[in-house]
Amino acid sequence: MADANPAHAVDSEFYLPASEFFPAQRRTALTYDDVTLATLYTEILPKESQIDARLADGLHLNIPLVSADMDTVTEARMAIAMALNGGLGLIHYNMAEKEQLSEVSRVKNHVHGLIQDPIRVHPEQHIGDVLELIEKKRFSFSTFPVVDGAGTLLGLLPGHVVKPRYAHRKVTDALTPRAQVRTIPERELGADPIARADRFFTENLGIHKLLVVDDQDRLKGLFTLSDIERITQESGAALKPARDAKFRLLCGAAISTVRRKDGSIDRDRVVGHVGALIDRGVDCVAVSTAHGHSRGVGEVVRWVRDAFPALPIIAGNVTSAAGVEFLASQGANVIKVGQGPGSICTTRVVAGVGIPQLTALYVTSRAAAACGVTLLADGGITKSGDIVKALTLAQGVICGGLFAGCPEAPGQIVEINGKLYKQYRGMGSHAAMKAGSAARYGHSADATRKAAAEGIEALKEVAASIDSVVAQLIGGIQSGMGYLGAASLPSLRERARYVRVSPAGQREASPHDVIEVKTPVGSAEKA
Ligand code: XMP
Repeated sequence: MADANPAHAVDSEFYLPASEFFPAQRRTALTYDDVTLATLYTEILPKESQIDARLADGLHLNIPLVSADMDTVTEARMAIAMALNGGLGLIHYNMAEKEQLSEVSRVKNHVHGLIQDPIRVHPEQHIGDVLELIEKKRFSFSTFPVVDGAGTLLGLLPGHVVKPRYAHRKVTDALTPRAQVRTIPERELGADPIARADRFFTENLGIHKLLVVDDQDRLKGLFTLSDIERITQESGAALKPARDAKFRLLCGAAISTVRRKDGSIDRDRVVGHVGALIDRGVDCVAVSTAHGHSRGVGEVVRWVRDAFPALPIIAGNVTSAAGVEFLASQGANVIKVGQGPGSICTTRVVAGVGIPQLTALYVTSRAAAACGVTLLADGGITKSGDIVKALTLAQGVICGGLFAGCPEAPGQIVEINGKLYKQYRGMGSHAAMKAGSAARYGHSADATRKAAAEGIEALKEVAASIDSVVAQLIGGIQSGMGYLGAASLPSLRERARYVRVSPAGQREASPHDVIEVKTPVGSAEKA
């Protein structure tokens, strides 16, 4: 957009573009709250700003948000929710390789509104077992399809019999038999399964569940009336899902630098696993480690690049220009920036290293522009304003803590003093390293007892669904773009002007001198 109102000379003296501001601060490392962005003349209404982000050839998101590859943040359910909102989920690697492949398949095969892997029960189980399952997994539903060992549908266990008084009765005695259960063959779902299910529920008064079966009558999925109603109500939503060329949801997966007993990295295993991920349809892999500027990470990136020339590779983490150059030279397309900013990170405390995030982003952005790679600002995001600042230097952001309390994140809800929480832990915490992520922090799994943890185990208050958290964040990003007159993310990067904030200025930036009764999601979460 041509500036109808060019910068005033006084503004230009105080509010500086990145190329002047950061070099002028070179002796102090800054993070999000240390700076603020100056507003500019605008003709842009926030809702008109374009927030799609091109991370690499073949990796184009409709919103610049990625959910972290952490075992308390991203599995299939989170990745599906992120992609439906236009972003990307990176499935973590703290699970068996086979399991990670299934998680990727779940995302790639997801049909919106169809529960493809419904929780099922068996005829010989007792109702007491089902009640135990509900309690253990904290299911909010109590109707279950009943299948035999081959997955063939035998009936439906209705919620009204799943009661303690029937605990000793067998499922087979309580189920609604197959002949009375409403089903639809998988092959009849057509191009628009939601519309098909919607029509079914309208035509069949009082029916709340529709089961999908294959030609052998094996259970293949489940539609519920409440899901379909929610989706049809939301169909006017502005955010477009992020899809691949075959109209499947985008999905990424993290890979580990698996080492043999002698300390060398197992090339065949890494390349074999990435090949299997690609067979399942993965859209990118992330070589996720705490120190990406290292021989091991470079080797893994190079092997994957040589074996799969077209695959978008995300790699990290780094905070230096040399680190970006190194990973780009090995074949990475997208570089993760962040060492120690995360809400559960203790790398800076334990190892005394790491760079506050905005300075790290500026330094790495210079190298990224020269190498033709893009950046993801990873960690330390606590509110939408941080994202706006990050996007002035990076093409996208990775969030862990902001999403960990959402129902789509893995993990159970716990109640403490009447408040609901979800577990959130660093991948460098003892517990996560024990579960498999030790390689990320350069430790072997059996050494984890001795290794210094670089992350903590924590709790997040249960948050709203990803849909509403993302909607709040996007609202904030677009608001920031409106204030800067930026019609697109490249324009935001071009137009950003920074100024440092004093401690009093930081206090002034948050609500003050009032008694706060309600804090909107993503706008003022305090660390
Ligand atoms: P947020 O602030 O979004 O940060 O919760 C998520 C990011 O933190 C990184 N991460 C860690 N860093 N020790 C660290 O120093 C850890 O145990 C750890 N676990 C995750 C990671 O980059 C993630 O995306």
